[in-house]
Amino acid sequence: MNPDRRPLIAANWKMHKTLGEAVAFVESIQEQTGPCADREVLIAPPFTALRGISGKLSLHGYSLGAQNCHWEQKGAFTGEISAAMLKDMGCAYVIVGHSERRQLFGETDETVRLKTSAAIGAGLAPVVCVGEALEERERGDAFEVIGRQLEGAFQGLGPERMNGVVIAYEPVWAIGTGRTATPGQAQEVHAFIRSRISSIFGKAIEKSVRILYGGSVKPSNVDALMAEPDIDGALVGGASLEVGSFKSLIQFNV
Ligand code: PGA
Repeated sequence: MNPDRRPLIAANWKMHKTLGEAVAFVESIQEQTGPCADREVLIAPPFTALRGISGKLSLHGYSLGAQNCHWEQKGAFTGEISAAMLKDMGCAYVIVGHSERRQLFGETDETVRLKTSAAIGAGLAPVVCVGEALEERERGDAFEVIGRQLEGAFQGLGPERMNGVVIAYEPVWAIGTGRTATPGQAQEVHAFIRSRISSIFGKAIEKSVRILYGGSVKPSNVDALMAEPDIDGALVGGASLEVGSFKSLIQFNV
């Protein structure tokens, strides 16, 4: 963690929680943790809970995000949601290119690029996810894969559009498996991502861009991960679903 970048602890609820459960969670987590001055908390519920909790995330430091968007502004795209619609719901962020969407729903570097650009255009901060599969890591290809995903996501974007953009490094082999990258493994990739961002966008963006780690982050490993200089936060699935464990993550110590 670097004090120049405000740490971001993000809950990716995936396909969990009804509206009632989501509302109860955000009321309880805010009551238990209070306002956040030196860190930011992001809740990304299913689309169906966005409206219901947007007015309830009232404490300082809490933000709302969505888990996906479409890249077109409007049109005949049955079942899709535009970035402007998310903004209208009170979202500040949208997760783009999560590995589950890449693996299960045909997301490609090109659709990630289109969504990233659409999100920025609508005034949202995209949380752009990158990460290698286990076979790619074992073959020694992790950096090449991540480099390609970064170039794909940000192709054609100028540095002036990168303000607020967040990157999440999520090794696919660590998501939902209980197997976390060691702080050293995560730091190595975060440093690589930062240097690649520097070569694409220059030093100012390199210094300001927040890079989250995701993949089995839990109360027992969050402090060690957050102590690394290039880890600026966490994107959390499983451990974000219970108030007790998410509260411990928000209250990480470095
Ligand atoms: P996990 O999920 O914390 O359950 O591993 C992280 C993610 O998919 O964003």
